[in-house]
Amino acid sequence: MKKELFGRMPDGCEVHAYTLRNGKMEARILDLGGILSRLSVNGQNVILGFDTLEGVLEDTSYQGSLVGRYGNRIHNARFVIDGKEYKLYANTAKVNHLHGGKYGFNRKLWRAEPFGESELALFYRSPDGEEGYPGNLDVRVTYKLLPDALEIRYEAISDKDTFVNLTNHVYFNLDGASTEGDILGHTLQIHADTYTDVDKDLIPVGRKNVENTRFDFRTAKKIGRDLHGKDMSDPDYSYDHNFNLDGRIRETVDGRDLALGATLSNGRITMDVLTDLPGVQCYTSGFLAHTENPLSGGVIQHRRMAIALETQVEPDAPSRGENLLKAGAKYDTMTVYRFS
Ligand code: BGC
Repeated sequence: MKKELFGRMPDGCEVHAYTLRNGKMEARILDLGGILSRLSVNGQNVILGFDTLEGVLEDTSYQGSLVGRYGNRIHNARFVIDGKEYKLYANTAKVNHLHGGKYGFNRKLWRAEPFGESELALFYRSPDGEEGYPGNLDVRVTYKLLPDALEIRYEAISDKDTFVNLTNHVYFNLDGASTEGDILGHTLQIHADTYTDVDKDLIPVGRKNVENTRFDFRTAKKIGRDLHGKDMSDPDYSYDHNFNLDGRIRETVDGRDLALGATLSNGRITMDVLTDLPGVQCYTSGFLAHTENPLSGGVIQHRRMAIALETQVEPDAPSRGENLLKAGAKYDTMTVYRFS
């Protein structure tokens, strides 16, 4: 597997880029944040990413990153385990916690171990108390290219009860990133009868049926079909919501029983998202407006240019006391992005 020096952190630490290959797939992954900075299918890059470490370090939109310890929002940046309150870093809407806090897993240097040409395991130990979370958490994320897919397996184990929700925040545009293009013409199908409704700060307020709403993706439709807002002040300008997957269409991929969660297509390339997780955050990049930090090839970032499909448990589960990872128990989930 090709390993190259990608850049040096301000403290001099080296950041490396690994290039994985299999069949029609090629992926470039950094040991910083486990960042997927290029993913090509038959030579076509289908994700947003940066070619320089400076771009990566300036990014605040989690481009291609591993997200942890806890993906999505935790209300009031706190939770309670066994009657004890844990306070987290509040990095969104002043009081809430988002994507692991100030320095989430996307900002950590991971130890990388390549296997052959197509598999890269990344290791990180998150110490007890990091960003406020209890327990030393040993994490292993394995990126594996199948001849037609990218598989990501997330494993973790903690020495104290804690909350974990690992995902990857890669932004897709199957036409390739471009300054002019957007994601509105791609079709999307999501196998979900309900979505998680949210308040103005995107904190969950309960489940709603998708029927007769713009959230009905049970039959494939153009992403832009029901988006009529003019800007981010309009609720129907973008999607940034969790969909609760119905799990009805199942397939065994690489020995694992997964559900087909969503399918994205531009008419030429089709991507299936398969997962054993119960939800997917569909985020049509409404906040992406970091024009001063161009992507690979000088492409200017702009709103609605791409879509993130972040597999996850239903957001804010720690506030409801759900999905606790018990000390010594194994966290083990898998998501596959398959292309045809
Ligand atoms: C969230 C967005 C947030 C973005 C950060 C997404 O997962 O749902 O609200 O702005 O991550 O780039």
